[in-house]
Amino acid sequence: MMDWTDRHCRYFMRILSPSVGLYTEMVTAAALVHGDADRLLKYHASEHPIALQIGGSDPLQMATAAKLGCDVGYDEININVGCPSDRVQSGAFGACLMSRPALVAECFSAMQSVSNAPVTVKTRIGIDDLDRYDFLRDFVQIVSAAGCKTFMIHARIALLAGLSPKENRTVPPLNYDRVYRLKQEFPQLEIVLNGGIHSVAQAAENLQRVDGVMIGRQAYQNPWLLAELEQAFVVPSESLVTDRHAVVRRMLPYVESELLSGVRLHQITRHMLGLYAGQPGARAWRRHLSENAHRSGAGPEVIEVALKFPAAA
Ligand SMILES: Cc1cc2nc3c(=O)[nH]c(=O)nc-3n(C[C@H](O)[C@H](O)[C@H](O)COP(=O)(O)O)c2cc1C
Repeated sequence: MMDWTDRHCRYFMRILSPSVGLYTEMVTAAALVHGDADRLLKYHASEHPIALQIGGSDPLQMATAAKLGCDVGYDEININVGCPSDRVQSGAFGACLMSRPALVAECFSAMQSVSNAPVTVKTRIGIDDLDRYDFLRDFVQIVSAAGCKTFMIHARIALLAGLSPKENRTVPPLNYDRVYRLKQEFPQLEIVLNGGIHSVAQAAENLQRVDGVMIGRQAYQNPWLLAELEQAFVVPSESLVTDRHAVVRRMLPYVESELLSGVRLHQITRHMLGLYAGQPGARAWRRHLSENAHRSGAGPEVIEVALKFPAAA
């Protein structure tokens, strides 16, 4: 999620869930091809399985970007056909590409031909007045005919004029039925539902109808949900965390090594603020980190002190 997630966030999330598939925020193909690809692609080995999400619409540039990702070991390359922001539309990619399925198919083919990892597509159920099941079906039909086997579907349309990206994540209503219908019509495809999932029960219910669920905001704002999902769906393993304090303690060596390489404490702790959401002491935890982690020279001791506020649960 652009502006929210980064590699520090994913390192933290991986501790909460050893099995969940993690995705980068969207990185544009142009930035990868013309910019500082080493920095943009940097990730920690523990983030695997990790998908790189790329935004763009020039097949050659998309392929070059995908290859850069595969060369450094990303496990999946995901094409963004869901972002509604003006900036993205002026670059003619993101959600507006839903109306150009042949171009998405061309990007897919170019990318898959140079990638040893699967290339997948994240999209919406429609855009603007193209708010019909047939439109979604035709899009998936054309892109899957090029060989794409996995689609993440954010179950609301994007309104490309008049709504901000934030409004486009809340105003158009969720329509899970359209995603279920897609799965029925394309049983051979892997269909992953996204949008509004905030509990284990809701994830379990949807997994009866589709192949997977993708969780955005709730995983960020209440990251303990990831540990609950792990407990609910994955065979217990030694790496499973059982309480929130243990997660924090497992972050400490990472924090120390990142600080040594010049990262500031708050760049890491900002992702940890929601760990105790709903628990006694959550507010004091947040406040201590928010007020102290950005100070110059702040180190792991800030986290140690913050840990005294919430109950270990
Ligand atoms: C701050 C923010 C940034 C986002 N950035 C991206 C992005 O880079 N790529 C993408 O595919 N979706 C992005 N999204 C959309 C989410 O991935 C997701 O589709 C949407 O929030 C609905 O799922 P949710 O209800 O589980 O959050 C972003 C969402 C938020 C809140």
